[in-house]
Amino acid sequence: MKFKLAAQDKLSKARAGEIATDHGTIQTPIFMPVGTAGTVKSVHQRELRDDIKAQIILGNTYHLYLRPGLDVIEKAGGLHKFNGWERPILTDSGGYQVYSLTEVRKIKEEGVTFRSHIDGSKHLFTPENVMDTQRTIGADIIMAFDECTPYPCDYNYARKSLDMTHRWLKRCIDRFDNTESKYGYSQTLFPIVQGSVYKDLRKKSAEFIAEQNREGNAIGGLSVGEPAEEMYAMTEVVCDILPYEKPRYLMGVGTPINILENIALGIDMFDCVMPTRNARNGMLFTRNGIINIKNEKWKDDFSPIDPDSDLYSDLVYSKAYLRHLIHSKEILGAQIASLHNLHFYLWLVKEAREKIISGEFYEWKNKMVKVLGQRL
Ligand code: GUN
Repeated sequence: MKFKLAAQDKLSKARAGEIATDHGTIQTPIFMPVGTAGTVKSVHQRELRDDIKAQIILGNTYHLYLRPGLDVIEKAGGLHKFNGWERPILTDSGGYQVYSLTEVRKIKEEGVTFRSHIDGSKHLFTPENVMDTQRTIGADIIMAFDECTPYPCDYNYARKSLDMTHRWLKRCIDRFDNTESKYGYSQTLFPIVQGSVYKDLRKKSAEFIAEQNREGNAIGGLSVGEPAEEMYAMTEVVCDILPYEKPRYLMGVGTPINILENIALGIDMFDCVMPTRNARNGMLFTRNGIINIKNEKWKDDFSPIDPDSDLYSDLVYSKAYLRHLIHSKEILGAQIASLHNLHFYLWLVKEAREKIISGEFYEWKNKMVKVLGQRL
């Protein structure tokens, strides 16, 4: 993997760059649609590739390991072959899902034991077997196994958890560096900064992560319920320490406003379930603000879903029709709304990139932050 910086904003820390992987190049800043179980929910590959031009998608170790299982993915020749996505993929390590999805879990030095949310079966994730699992899934970028602390989190817990995440990182690196890609292309491992909302812990973690000298770095443990200002304060502290010349990935973030503010602080990569999950509940993000398509007000509004969009489904279907589909829980409603929101998120980061390159980012960002939160 190679990262090349193309431009740096003068009034903020925003930058534009390019990440080259064996499955193609990613232009940053980028938003990565979440494909938990190997599919971006209700959006098919041609729409992702041709209609909204997604450059990289996410998969989840936790879900893919439980179902369909590693034997199936290995037999297919890796996740790219299994799901037909030929561009880059990033997998999360399960270091978030075991905490958010499983009720019965035990965190020990060795790793985490948990029960599957599907059938209650018992499993153990360790830094070593999570690296092996991600070798088998075969994503271009894989994530270290970490503990994502909840919010609020008391200082002593956050400190101890951080030390363990760092020890786990050493074990991840050791395993990763002593194993090989299974499918003939290269993979890279990103470590994850933790430290909850404590500046000194975030600093310590960012310093430790920077010292590992990997090709890219991530920030975790944010967007877990803390106020946005605390999130931005942590991103700022960490971005000051993480190497300038390597990509920085802020995990699980966020709203369109969060994305713009964090781009301004020096973040290059984002992922979040929000555009797809909220779409299924009728929340549409647009460049003029947020629409709840379920509202009575759209009942007989036969104007296009989004006249500013160049998506076929945004232009050919009306707001009233989409409202009807979402209320009726029709599958097509989820498809149209998910594609719309992902298209908007990808437009937002592409526009940010262009504004960084043309030197207009800061003003544009401030203007957009004012409109994007409005309820239409
Ligand atoms: N996704 C969102 N936050 C996190 C985090 O802290 N760790 C991991 N592994 N994934 C995440």
